[in-house]
Amino acid sequence: MRIFRTAAAVLILDGLALAGGAEKNAAAPTFNHDIAPILYANCANCHRPGQVAPFSLLTYQDAAKRAKQIAAITQARVMPPWKATPGYGNFLDARLLTDAQIAAIRDWAAHGAPEGDAAEKPAPPKFADGWLAGEPDRVFKMEKPYSLPAEGPDQFRCFVIPLNAEKDEYVKAVEFRPGNRRIVHHAILFMDTTGEARKRQTSPGEGYPCVGGPGLDITGSLGGWAPGAQPAVARGGVAHTIRKGADLVLQIHYHLDGKPEEDQSSVGLQFSQTPPAKGLTLYVLGNEHIDIPAGDAHYVVKASGILPMDVEAMAIFPHAHYLCKEMKVDAHLPDGSVVPMIWIKDWDFNWQGAYRYASPVKLPKGTRLEMTYTYDNSAANPRNPSNPPREVIFGEETTNEMAFAFVSMALPSPDDVSEFRRGTRAELIASMLEEGVPQGLGPRAAPLQLLLNAFDTNHNGKIDPEERPALVQYLMKRGAQK
Ligand code: HEC
Repeated sequence: MRIFRTAAAVLILDGLALAGGAEKNAAAPTFNHDIAPILYANCANCHRPGQVAPFSLLTYQDAAKRAKQIAAITQARVMPPWKATPGYGNFLDARLLTDAQIAAIRDWAAHGAPEGDAAEKPAPPKFADGWLAGEPDRVFKMEKPYSLPAEGPDQFRCFVIPLNAEKDEYVKAVEFRPGNRRIVHHAILFMDTTGEARKRQTSPGEGYPCVGGPGLDITGSLGGWAPGAQPAVARGGVAHTIRKGADLVLQIHYHLDGKPEEDQSSVGLQFSQTPPAKGLTLYVLGNEHIDIPAGDAHYVVKASGILPMDVEAMAIFPHAHYLCKEMKVDAHLPDGSVVPMIWIKDWDFNWQGAYRYASPVKLPKGTRLEMTYTYDNSAANPRNPSNPPREVIFGEETTNEMAFAFVSMALPSPDDVSEFRRGTRAELIASMLEEGVPQGLGPRAAPLQLLLNAFDTNHNGKIDPEERPALVQYLMKRGAQK
């Protein structure tokens, strides 16, 4: 039941070509003077022994033998992995090289990757081993180790960890700690108050396969983790609340490394005694009407939603599966201005995660959030899981697709959360009626028709902008009585 239109969008792919025009006379960058500091600061947290990347980039030998590949992959902005387009949303902990750093690597490779003066060699980077955010109040660990084979496709698995909260608890800091850094590619932390996740496991602690999402109504999230990620510390009067009886659902993406491995990851939480000043909620922008014909190289899915009160966007988490190529989310403010939320030009399912805004993004009541996602279901898409391509519809399997942007939003007060949820539902229904009662709803059309009859005061068969506020107000009142 979401708004759906199609339109054209342009796919921009960066070329992989190496610029060959390095000036002959300029002093060539050297590993010791120019390149090592870049690699130590931007690559080594993953590319060192015992971490998830397939090779180390700490020594001159490690880097020099891959100089051309490193130059190509940094120029194409494939590494360091960071999907958000620079300048489109301002994010915390952005893993981005500057143009000057990329040019230095390019020139270094083009000059035969010189090592340089040994006296200029920087000290190898140090990495903290303990909890980065300080000792947690409590550590929640996967109930038992999970065994992975030496080889095979990547695995996505959800583990359920009871949090045993006897009352609502407020979280000040969340830190995920991978049990085995060689294979944990990334993790996403969900909360489940429905008990559904527990039921999905065949036995406690066993977990269950979950490719697309945890497979349940997400009642909350505690953020995500990828190698090098900083722990999420509450800011701006906002804190996650753990509801009484909630389970933590850890969705872990494993990248097998050629040896049988085990993992038992954990999450450290620091609690706050005082309730947060502001409310926190997860806004779901999305569209489940997805039906991509086999071979369609340019299928567009759109969705939009109107915010029922003033909010601050704290983080955004775009989600789709393998066929998605491009994702764009914008906020259209009531004053006509447009705030860019995120733009991913080369979506890669393997590098998904939460993008936290450097400072909260103020979005006033009436702001319209819009998303446009583009999918390539042709044989020419190397990430297409089906060969030959087949029709793809919405769903949780790898061979299905999704189109969501989860936006973590701060509300003026914790008491606003339920009103916000009612408001977003009311706005959603009002949007559905903008063009009259949608076709193909079957029995679900009747209550919508009744609403339309009551609020379509000029009898033109749809809800016009002037008619909308009365309808939304009515729906919110009705929601409050339920
Ligand atoms: C957040 C972790 C992380 C960071 C930071 C990172 N890498 Fe990687 N890198 C990986 C992983 C994991 C792979 C394996 C392929 C994959 O999973 O995408 C990889 C693969 C590569 C490859 C091989 C790509 C291929 O096609 O086989 C190169 C080259 C590379 N990285 C270079 C770099 C350089 C240079 C930097 C820093 C500028 C960097 N990486 C930063 C995790 C990282």
